[in-house]
Amino acid sequence: MNPRLNTLDDLVKLEKGLIGRRIFVDQEIFEAEMREIFAKAWLFVGHESLVPNPDDYFISRMGTDPVILTRDPQGELHVFLNSCPHRGMKLCRYDHGNNRTFTCPYHGWSFSTNGRLVEQPGALIGVPGFATHYHGELNKKDWGLKRVARMHNYKGSIWATWDANAPDFEDYIGDMRHYLDYALDHRDGSPGGSEVIAGVQKWRVKCNWKFAPENFIGDLYHDISHRSVDIVGIGPSGGKGRRDPTPQRMTVGFPHLGHGLVGRKPYHEEPPYAPLWTQDPAVEAYYRELHEKRQARLGDGMRVLHSVGTIFPNMSFHGRQPRTIAVFHPVSPTEMEMWRIYLVDKDAPEAVKEAARHYYLRYSGPGGMTESDDMENWTGATEASQGAVASQMFFNYQMGLGHARPVPGLTGAIENGEFTEENARIFYGRWKQFMEGQSWESLMSASRAAQPVPMEARHV
Ligand code: FES
Ligand SMILES: [Fe+2]
Repeated sequence: MNPRLNTLDDLVKLEKGLIGRRIFVDQEIFEAEMREIFAKAWLFVGHESLVPNPDDYFISRMGTDPVILTRDPQGELHVFLNSCPHRGMKLCRYDHGNNRTFTCPYHGWSFSTNGRLVEQPGALIGVPGFATHYHGELNKKDWGLKRVARMHNYKGSIWATWDANAPDFEDYIGDMRHYLDYALDHRDGSPGGSEVIAGVQKWRVKCNWKFAPENFIGDLYHDISHRSVDIVGIGPSGGKGRRDPTPQRMTVGFPHLGHGLVGRKPYHEEPPYAPLWTQDPAVEAYYRELHEKRQARLGDGMRVLHSVGTIFPNMSFHGRQPRTIAVFHPVSPTEMEMWRIYLVDKDAPEAVKEAARHYYLRYSGPGGMTESDDMENWTGATEASQGAVASQMFFNYQMGLGHARPVPGLTGAIENGEFTEENARIFYGRWKQFMEGQSWESLMSASRAAQPVPMEARHV
């Protein structure tokens, strides 16, 4: 970082609950984030149901790098950099499609995903003028598509990292997975079983990308922003509020990993089924039946409910109402591209999928009544933090400082009641560790040493 600028220690003072506004508006810090965080961490790339058939592809992003998620003819998934090794042209200019061979529009080099025919998926297979212009001397083996170092399919969600030294994905998310599961699992409690309702919403927001994951990691304090939509009442059951009533919420965070959520402790007893989706008896019956199946399937096992959370750095999810994945792709210090992916049970009847789709769109996305409130706050805060005076000031993250407690039943987790900025502090603590350039060994050491906290009581 430029010595003229403050150091990370001057900007992120978690013990005092202070974070310098500069980290939300500064170009040099943004570029360091791309190198130190986005070229290193596990990032959400897409969902397997976006590429269901052989040769399907879906265009995604990892930080500011464009990538292609594709399924080869053998059914294997791959993630490649969407940039031709010859002179950088984007190989895919459509959002999604079906292609066995990717041919560059600039000079016509072509690349294959067929692992059965080529040594490496993404290998360069065709070069116009290879024998004549290149005199047969181009070493094609060296000029295949750049592939991510590691990829992981977690219950249908696809994750990738550019760093070969990254820990296994399951270590990277730790016990946070129980909460992510609630978004990805079937409503009857069986693992996976979700699919994306066709179409990913993508739009640009003139805000720093960090405002969004910080919001979803545990900011219940901002409910006042949603006053108008709360009065309208858009929850599935048509009652008051944006969602149907939920049991009391609390924040749970994983300080050694940077993830966190609003939800509940893991517990063994769920409240009885509350009639939801009452405007359509068929939809209502579906959810009632699945609630009972879930109860029976999970027995005494760990359960979580109603989770909204963030996986560091830029993926958030809503586990219950609506059930979606949000991704915040950084574009510049003051702009992000936001995505919403909506999930339903793959085998749900059409009427259930339609009811969910209508509710999701009322709630989330650029036209959603809830998301639009949030975006206004993030853009306003970004705009008002860029000035010569404002950018020297600090944001306040002091709520609940020093009041965290361990969470029984989880490893390395703390909770801090319902209203707290604990999880935001956790997020920026992890951000700082990455920005300092810490090795994976150091980044993972505290989490690896953590022991599960025993359950204090069977029913919590
Ligand atoms: S840039 Fe792709 S073939 Fe030249
Ligand atoms: Fe919000």
